Amino acid sequence: MTTLTTCPTIADAELLKSLLASAGITAFLPEELTANAAPQLVFSSGIRVQVEDEDADEARRLLATVPARLTPEKINLAEKFALFSEHWSPKIVAALNGQHVKLVKFQGEFVWHHHAHEDELFLVVRGSFRMEFRDKRVELREGELLVVPRGVEHRPVADEEVSVLLFEPAATVNTGSNPGEKTVAAPEWI
Ligand code: NI
Repeated sequence: MTTLTTCPTIADAELLKSLLASAGITAFLPEELTANAAPQLVFSSGIRVQVEDEDADEARRLLATVPARLTPEKINLAEKFALFSEHWSPKIVAALNGQHVKLVKFQGEFVWHHHAHEDELFLVVRGSFRMEFRDKRVELREGELLVVPRGVEHRPVADEEVSVLLFEPAATVNTGSNPGEKTVAAPEWI
């Protein structure tokens, strides 16, 4: 079983369940019975929306086309960044209009690659790094952002750990044209 996302209310979870059902995917809500029996209970960790592992990829593609959190809920970036420590492994924190908002920590050199169909936005939340292109380098500091156009070869390099927000189409894979050990084909939601 794969947890796709968590919803703040049972109503949101039911909505996602029906959306998935319309695409032939059965979703499971482990907290459903408790939430319906005792709606006053606060589910601090949210209502989980789960699917069978083999449905996970298709379900993620589908959910990327709707806001996964249908009740507006703020997302605290510092809290989300505190949930993981690995480098070069993007985590999804929001989806809208077929795009994902991802958080990632860089340290060291990534691989040279490009994306044939996607433009990628990089926003530095904490620290700094440089984006290398074949003909130039761009230094990015906290509070600065850069859009890498589709088709342009690039390689992020961070001398020290940096926290970065990415905004890009849901189908974008981090290593683009150059898959390998750093590829994360299906980033997890946090
Ligand atoms: Ni890229």
